[in-house]
Amino acid sequence: MAATVTPACRPHPAGMPAAEIRERFLRFFERHGHTIVPSSSLVPKDDPTLLFTNAGMVQFKDVFTGKEKVPYKRATTAQKCMRAGGKHNDLENVGKTARHHTFFEMLGNFSFGDYFKREAIHFAWTFLTEELGLPRERLWATIFRDDDEAFGLWQEVTGIPAERIVRLGEKDNFWAMGDTGPCGPCSEIVYDRGEEFRCDAEVCGIGACDCDRWLEIWNLVFMQFNRDESGRLEPLPRPSIDTGMGLERIASVMQGVGSNFDTDLFRPLLRAVEDLTGRPYDGGEAGFPFRVIADHARACTFLIADGVLPSNEGRGHVLRRILRRAVRFGRILGLEEPFLYRLVDTVGEVMGDAYPEVRQRADYVRRVIRGEEERFFRTLDQGMAILAEVIERARQRGDGLIHGEEAFVLYDTYGFPLDLTEDAAEEAGLRVDREGFERAMAVQRQRARAAREVEEGWDPGSPLARALADEPATEFTGYERLEDEGTVRLLVRRDEPADRADAGEEVGVILDRTPFYAERGGQVGDTGWLETPRARLEVLDTQPLPGGRILHKARVVEGAVQVGDRVRARVDAARRAAIMRNHTATHLLHAALKRVLGDHVNQAGSLVAPDRLRFDFTHFEAPTAGQLRAIEDEINQQILRGIPVRWYWTSLEEALEAGALALFGEKYGNEVRVVQIGDYSLELCGGTHVVSTSDIGLFKFTAEGSVAAGVRRVEAVTGWGSLEYLRRQEAVLDRLAGTLRVPVDDLPARLEALVESHRELERQLRQLRSRLARQAADGLLEAAPQLAGVRVIAGELPVDDAEVLRETADYLRQRAGEAAVLLGARAGGRALLVAAVTPGAQERGLHAGRLVGEVARRLGGGGGGRPDLAQAGGRDPGRLPEALEQGRRLWMEQLAGGTTGAGPS
Ligand code: ALA
Repeated sequence: MAATVTPACRPHPAGMPAAEIRERFLRFFERHGHTIVPSSSLVPKDDPTLLFTNAGMVQFKDVFTGKEKVPYKRATTAQKCMRAGGKHNDLENVGKTARHHTFFEMLGNFSFGDYFKREAIHFAWTFLTEELGLPRERLWATIFRDDDEAFGLWQEVTGIPAERIVRLGEKDNFWAMGDTGPCGPCSEIVYDRGEEFRCDAEVCGIGACDCDRWLEIWNLVFMQFNRDESGRLEPLPRPSIDTGMGLERIASVMQGVGSNFDTDLFRPLLRAVEDLTGRPYDGGEAGFPFRVIADHARACTFLIADGVLPSNEGRGHVLRRILRRAVRFGRILGLEEPFLYRLVDTVGEVMGDAYPEVRQRADYVRRVIRGEEERFFRTLDQGMAILAEVIERARQRGDGLIHGEEAFVLYDTYGFPLDLTEDAAEEAGLRVDREGFERAMAVQRQRARAAREVEEGWDPGSPLARALADEPATEFTGYERLEDEGTVRLLVRRDEPADRADAGEEVGVILDRTPFYAERGGQVGDTGWLETPRARLEVLDTQPLPGGRILHKARVVEGAVQVGDRVRARVDAARRAAIMRNHTATHLLHAALKRVLGDHVNQAGSLVAPDRLRFDFTHFEAPTAGQLRAIEDEINQQILRGIPVRWYWTSLEEALEAGALALFGEKYGNEVRVVQIGDYSLELCGGTHVVSTSDIGLFKFTAEGSVAAGVRRVEAVTGWGSLEYLRRQEAVLDRLAGTLRVPVDDLPARLEALVESHRELERQLRQLRSRLARQAADGLLEAAPQLAGVRVIAGELPVDDAEVLRETADYLRQRAGEAAVLLGARAGGRALLVAAVTPGAQERGLHAGRLVGEVARRLGGGGGGRPDLAQAGGRDPGRLPEALEQGRRLWMEQLAGGTTGAGPS
């Protein structure tokens, strides 16, 4: 970590406050024909390509391309910006350098096809040197490598000598908002803080090092292109100008301090952190946590004021990361309880005049931050302990690496964002396997995707989508009743609207109101019947369509149905009751898991079907049999208590305040439905539930296992499903008892005895086989010829496994004096060969490995091995006698002729 040192600075024109710089900037450009436009939100409007507003030009993106018209050609702004995540990301530098932030303010002037390079350079130069009075000799310019026009203009307009104009490449001097959108070459004004700020790099200079001496204060972008999705650059209708000056940076220059954190924009925040911790801030390395907290307090406040809420996806995830990172640094400073929310007012004091929303929404912002801090603090201790373990494990492994799965479990189970684990790893001299983390994350995403399929599989241009365009959401009445009257609004045949459907046809039916529940949140869709005066339909499934419309997938059983028909809709009540039992049981399960295994348990997926329920949750190891029992007991206890199940609609905020469990990554609207089971469980849920826990009947686990790193899965049954499960188990036992002819209770003892006697019989069988094999081998030995003092024994044995064959070859080798043994056998449609040669026979040139290799070829196979012992096999057992004879002959010839080798080689 580079320390931020603040050497004594030469005072500049009387420390101009940041608010005054902001004001003077806007007025200066207003005087030069620019319209002052308010800052836009940090959340870009209608722009899914961009995570956050990361520059002043974002709100003018469509103006540059000509898509949007505005009544002015010149504009100026002070814009709220975020650079954390996405193309422009400064998160990791925050607090390490004197000049990087997640949230910052950008002062900018814009020309939409009006002035171009010359005027842009002139305005910037005049503002800096005349309005702010900066010394000219401290200013440098950078240009895009071959922008000779800019090179000439800088000298001509400002008088900067050529040696203070630096040419840089695309990375530094070609600016783009994101992967697509307006872009162009740029030119930056750099302020030289002076020799005393130089770094240790061999060459300390613009484009050479990255230290705090050379401060890029103002970027002038010569907007000329629009990059499209394929990466192609299209010229803009007219060349334009987009500039950006970091307010925090220019304030540090104007206030004569060496770090943005020493300006009046940050000082009050650092003081507030001093008050909270009782520790003094230090501009060097020790002050790093202070700076991170001060930066992140601003970012969190502004993001939440602009409507972002902590979550596990997109913008909300970045907010969560930043917030949790601040909390962790707070802990490093000894803060043991929520504190970040206390800085919201200080942010308001510093920024509220320019951005009134941070004062107006302070109350809300404080509550959101505090809630998230409390949630995080709850798992923080446990997570920190696991993190310490993970670091220790990595040290012991000695690979210097925290594995991706370990980092993912910390993320998924304890809410530790990756960069937080990376911070801790860095402190311990370790690295995190980012790729492994991303892989684990991808698995998780895949699971979450199922939940979004409704929107994704939907083509808004399809005939069905068009037919549905004016159709309101279907009124769902299935929380209160299972039968209702409605009218057919639309019929759908193979994704096209239809007027009528006849007997035998499959058809999608959309009613104005229905008691049928459409599959969602893990709960499967209802089935049942639709009856009109002239038709009967069987509903096979119910699915959600975008916009709250409900699609009944039905088959016309009798008659014909038409748009406009009155319908009596009847849900299959027995099936629905089974589903409701399983759904309420799922909530009990979720709560019981947290109680027995710990608060880190979170739902990662679920299926609520009539015959069973399945539940995935975050947990780092397999629950023990004892824990599973305890969970089962816990749930059945709540069932036997007969607790009433209540539900109500409320605001998301109130529900979360009340402690309702909101599922990871789920999207909730403003009005949410809360399902409450006494004081045992409180969840946001749109599903259908029994009215009392006693309706659930017996809850029984049927399976437990792992689905991914840190995610476990259980399956269970309730109600009639439990009875069925027990009957199936009973049937298995009865069948076993029947086969073994003992009462069920005696089954274990009987089975153990059977297994034992089976083992004993196998042992005896082996013994017999090898005795038989040896008898046959003795026969071969008696008949074996001897040549040059070596017995050549070859023949087939009545055995069927290679092990016994090898044993027998060994037995012969030991009994026969100097010998060469070649044995064959047939097993499972294959031929087996084993050769064994004693040392004396080897001296005469016989080689077991070579011989079996040669002979096995005749059997359509291969093999080989050592000179003393080798084995081989082949596909053609019918040729075994012939092959054995060949082997015997080869050895005899070798012994007779004194040649070496198995034969011709
Ligand atoms: N849009 C340019 C930047 O952000 C000015 O640097």
